Amino acid sequence: MCGIVGYSGPNNSVGPIIEGLSRLEYRGYDSAGICLKINNELQILKKEGKLENLKELINSQKPFSNIGIGHTRWATHGAVTTDNAHPHGNEIFAVVHNGIIENAGTLKKELQAEGFQFKSQTDSEVFLVLLTKFFKQGNSTLKSISKAFETITGNSAFVIMEKATDKLYALKRSAPLVVGENKDLREAYVSSDPFALVGFAPKIYFPQDGVICEGTVTTCEVNLNFYELDLTPSNRYKFQSNSMSVDATSKGHYEHYMLKEIHEQPALIDKLAAFYIKNEGRKVLNELKGFKCDEWHLTACGTAWHAGLVIKNYFEQINRQRASVDIASEFRYKNPILNKGEVGLFISQSGETADTLACQELCKEKGIPTYSIVNVEGSTLFRNADKNFLIHAGVEIGVASTKAFTLQALTGYLMSRAMEGTLDDSRLFSEIKLLSTRVAELCSQAESIKEVAEKIYTQKGFIFTGRGKYFPIAFEGALKLKEIAYVHAEGYAAGELKHGPIALIDESIVNIAIVGPELLEKTISNVEEVKARRGFIVIVGPKNHPEIEHLADAYIPLDFNGLDNLSPLYVNVALQFLAYHIAKLKGTDIDKPRNLAKSVTVE
Ligand code: G6P
Repeated sequence: MCGIVGYSGPNNSVGPIIEGLSRLEYRGYDSAGICLKINNELQILKKEGKLENLKELINSQKPFSNIGIGHTRWATHGAVTTDNAHPHGNEIFAVVHNGIIENAGTLKKELQAEGFQFKSQTDSEVFLVLLTKFFKQGNSTLKSISKAFETITGNSAFVIMEKATDKLYALKRSAPLVVGENKDLREAYVSSDPFALVGFAPKIYFPQDGVICEGTVTTCEVNLNFYELDLTPSNRYKFQSNSMSVDATSKGHYEHYMLKEIHEQPALIDKLAAFYIKNEGRKVLNELKGFKCDEWHLTACGTAWHAGLVIKNYFEQINRQRASVDIASEFRYKNPILNKGEVGLFISQSGETADTLACQELCKEKGIPTYSIVNVEGSTLFRNADKNFLIHAGVEIGVASTKAFTLQALTGYLMSRAMEGTLDDSRLFSEIKLLSTRVAELCSQAESIKEVAEKIYTQKGFIFTGRGKYFPIAFEGALKLKEIAYVHAEGYAAGELKHGPIALIDESIVNIAIVGPELLEKTISNVEEVKARRGFIVIVGPKNHPEIEHLADAYIPLDFNGLDNLSPLYVNVALQFLAYHIAKLKGTDIDKPRNLAKSVTVE
């Protein structure tokens, strides 16, 4: 989704802003822009399409500006055009925005009736026009920002610069925003993601909703001041030192980030087990020993929702505790039944997904404790949760989530074992070690999965099937494939196929059937039904199984032995490779698939 980077300081703002925006490219966007101050005028450069286009424009002008704000836009209101790209500006202010102004339509009509002109179709420009209106009425910049912010509804983050000073202003409501400073270099920074500021701002601050941050750079110092909307000083912000490393973002020798991230899984699985069983993570897990609640409410979006389905099985099968799993955008509007004694568990890689955050808010309002399984420490979900279970996946750049899924599900498994009180069972560590070993084996044999991909990549449709604990993996396998290969793919419970989807089966359809050792005969019967209707059969199943070998048109043999609860995570890695190779054969943009955003910060 939209990315924001702003700079004020003694140096040229263009470098850090473009570097920051490039780091945020993975989040997904369709146009980019920057506002600089040149010859004391606000100058806006923007371009439709990739950041490269904006870079070319900038390179042709070689501008120098001590202050600037940059933005990558993921269109919501208004088509993907240069006019709709941010920043939006006039002779007084320039603004970048991340989020949605829900009452923009009404406000725009009112402002137009008052004689204000608009240059774009965006909701964001409404904020600029409001701000300008209040300023022209004689209010200070801070007061005008506060009044404009109070006039709009919806979740948003704004960064503002003005012609009159070299100050940066930033504020937000339920949208990610971070401000930073480098005291030694007298530099102030702002961004929608701390990752953009790594290596630039050693100190970062997270303002809470409705707190205005004003970054002032003078000839001797940099100051970040925080104000409430009534302009009294605010202490509603959290400080953090920015300890991330830039190396984490290199692709290494891999052709794609997605491939690199799949290959990182064995080491990350081992690291997570050590963290939670033997090291610092043990403390938070110990608090779960013997824990019981009346119902777990798991909510998440996309891949994280699939991880939720896996975790639900753990909580129900291992702990015999009730667990419901909802898609966050559904849960938030269904007037969920939430009672004391229940817990909300929110699963998210980014910790910034708007719908997931709204569900957390809802549980908080109802007085239900909120726990998170999250990757980004310091994210909004993390900051607002009563307990956090970090997945320690490192930065995940590929839009299609891979390692985060595995580690989310594994964290859920560890939580389940902690509740059961079996963290000290030496078999647990060996079981997880076995998972990482098997995943490493898969990584070294990925060429054979590529051969399967070669047989099927031109087919019309793909139906992934699985039973029991592999049912969520059928969903996740299908999602991965549609995300990056742009083909129709669906996940189904193997036994449900005959209740409708079997009508789709002919020789143009592939059934990717997960056949686990459990309910093997029944699952094989389901495959037979597809085969009888000329569907192309790919079986992901136990190795050395002559019946499967005979039945399948293509076979991904796996060693399920000893994996038991963790086998869904293992099977899923095989499907990650399959999706990757199909997408590669189709020549799609694997790391930044069309229309998708890594972090969805709007509803
Ligand atoms: C987007 C991404 C998905 C991700 C989902 C939830 O749709 O493209 O890969 O699974 O958001 O994101 P989260 O950060 O909450 O896990």
